[in-house]
Amino acid sequence: HHTFVARSQKLNQPVPSKKAVQPQASYKVAVLGAAGGIGQPLSLLIKMSPLVSALHLYDIANVKGVAADLSHCNTPSKVIDFTGASELANALKGVNVVVIPAGVPRKPGMTRDDLFNINANIVKTLVEAVADNCPDAFIHVISNPVNSTVPIAAEVLKQKGVYDPKKLFGVTTLDVVRANTFVAQNKDLKLIDVDVPVVGGHAGITILPLLSKAKPTVSFTDEEIESLTVRIQNAGTEVVEAKAGAGSATLSMAYAAARFVESSLRALDGDGDVYECAFIQSDITELPFFASRIKIGKKGVEEVISADFQGLTEYEQKALQALKPELKESIEKGIKFVEKQK
Ligand code: NAD
Ligand code: LMR
Repeated sequence: HHTFVARSQKLNQPVPSKKAVQPQASYKVAVLGAAGGIGQPLSLLIKMSPLVSALHLYDIANVKGVAADLSHCNTPSKVIDFTGASELANALKGVNVVVIPAGVPRKPGMTRDDLFNINANIVKTLVEAVADNCPDAFIHVISNPVNSTVPIAAEVLKQKGVYDPKKLFGVTTLDVVRANTFVAQNKDLKLIDVDVPVVGGHAGITILPLLSKAKPTVSFTDEEIESLTVRIQNAGTEVVEAKAGAGSATLSMAYAAARFVESSLRALDGDGDVYECAFIQSDITELPFFASRIKIGKKGVEEVISADFQGLTEYEQKALQALKPELKESIEKGIKFVEKQK
C-alpha cells in the first residue's frame, strides 16, 4: 500500500488543486518520545501520510526544532510540538493513535530486560496520561522491553478503568519486516511478495518466525530454518553491536512503526482488509499476552488469526513451548511493577 504523498510535480501539470494538499482523512497522531532516534524518522514518515491531519510531537526536550523542521514539508498534516510533562495532556487530547517510542535503548552486552527499570516508569507515566486524555485511542507501544511494557500499559489502563484490550498493541512489526527481508534474500524472492508471520514476543527466543506459514510457500532445509530463525531473533542485537554504543535500531524501526500506524489509520478509516502482527492481550495460548497475526478494524483488534497456529512444524512447536516460560516471566514482571505501586 503506497499511500505516502511525497512526490514532485510534473512539468506542464496544472498547479495542484487545493484538494491535493488536504489530507484524505483527518486522523490525529501523537508521538511520545518524538525527538529520539526512532521518534524523529518516525515522525517524518507519519508526516508523509495522507491520512493524517495533525501530528502531535511530544518529548521531554528538543522537540521544538524537530516540529519546526518537519512542519516545512508540503504534506497535509499540521505539526505541533509539546515539551515536558505540563504539555503532555494537550499533546494527547483528541488524538486517534498514540505511538510510544520514549525510553532508553540498549548498548552492546545488554538485554532488552536490562532497560526495564528506566522504561517501566516512563511507559507507566505516559500511559496514565493517555488514560486521562484520550482513552479511546489506539496505543502503539514501542519502548522496550515490549514483553513487559505492554502488560504495564494494560495494568495502568485497568487501574484507570479505561482498558480496552482491542486497542493496546505492542509493536512487533520490525520482526516481520526483518523476517520478510531475510527470507527474500535467502530465497531470492521479490521482497514485495514475501510475508512471514512472527509470533510470541519481542526479545530473543520469544521472537518466533513461523517460516512454515511464509508467503509465498517456500521450502527450507533444516539448516536454513535454524539460521534464519536465529538471525531474525538476534537482528536487534546485530544492530546494537554495529552501532557500538550509539543505540539500537532506529531507522528500520521507524519504517516498521510507520507501517503499523498507516495500517491502523486505514483500519480506522474503514478498510476491511488490514492484517498485521502485534503483541496483544490474547487467548491464543495460556499466556495473557501473545504476538500473532491479527485483523485490525475500526475498533481495534477484530480477529486473531488462529489458523497460523495450526499445522506448525515440529521445530516451531518446540520453539513455541520453549519461549513460554521467558515470556510468562516478562509479562508477570510488568504486571507486578504496577500492582506494587498501588
Ligand atoms: P532514544 O534515546 O534515541 O530516544 C528516546 C527518546 O525518548 C528521547 O528523545 C528522550 O528524550 C525521550 N524520552 C525519555 N523519557 C521520556 C518521557 N518520560 N516522556 C517522553 N519522552 C521521553 O532511543 P530510541 O533509539 O528512539 O529507542 C526508544 C525505545 O524504543 C527504546 O526503549 C528501544 O529499546 C525501543 N525499541 C523498540 C523496538 C521494537 O521493535 N519495539 C525497536 C527499536 C527500539
Ligand atoms: C530491536 O529489535 O531492534 C529493538 O527491540 C531494539 C533492541 O534493543 O534490539
